[in-house]
Amino acid sequence: MIKVAPSILSADYTKLGQEINSVSGADYLHFDVMDGVFVPNISIGLPVLESVRKITDMPLDVHLMIIEPYRFTTRFAEAGADIVVFHVEAETPENINKAIDELHNLKKRVGLSIKPNTSAEAVIPYIEKLDMVLVMTVEPGFGGQKFMPQMLPKISKLREHIDGHGLKCDIEVDGGINLETAKICVHAGANVLVAGSDIFEKADRAGRIAELRAV
Ligand code: DX5
Ligand code: ZN
Repeated sequence: MIKVAPSILSADYTKLGQEINSVSGADYLHFDVMDGVFVPNISIGLPVLESVRKITDMPLDVHLMIIEPYRFTTRFAEAGADIVVFHVEAETPENINKAIDELHNLKKRVGLSIKPNTSAEAVIPYIEKLDMVLVMTVEPGFGGQKFMPQMLPKISKLREHIDGHGLKCDIEVDGGINLETAKICVHAGANVLVAGSDIFEKADRAGRIAELRAV
């Protein structure tokens, strides 16, 4: 089954509660955290996550685009994340393993994300312990960018590995997802679709979520 995760990076923050309500039929709410160092942009963080946690039961899929994410993984878990996703490029192998184990002890799901220039192999050492791999299909940092079709072989390779080893890890794609690109990502093996601008620019968001789920 395909899951859809609207990214509130594209929401109107003056009415964030209403914006979240308008996508409450989706599977996850995608929450992008940027530090201005790992990516050339700054977004939202812990206080916003705490507030969002109070107004929705949606599973919160927190995508940390920050350097040395192990410093903060527990705090994001405690602030209400259900799934904590951080970048393999941003942390040491030792801290990646510690973060995964500690998040699992807190009963949270854990994902590792890879930027466009990072190969699928980078997550393989951890994949048996992961709940999700997030394949970035744009350079992280901004919504509304164009999908990079060169990422498709990476998705297929991960899908082959996951199925070939009987693992349950999800494959999430993020960046430039619309009906057309969602279809090719699902065909390549993705099963969780993040979409920011493609959902929030529509008047009928529930309708678009249903269409994305059915690609
Ligand atoms: C970008 C973020 C994305 C972003 C996607 O670095 O990780 O989640 O919101 O936006 P769209 O769907 O507009 O490409
Ligand atoms: Zn994201």
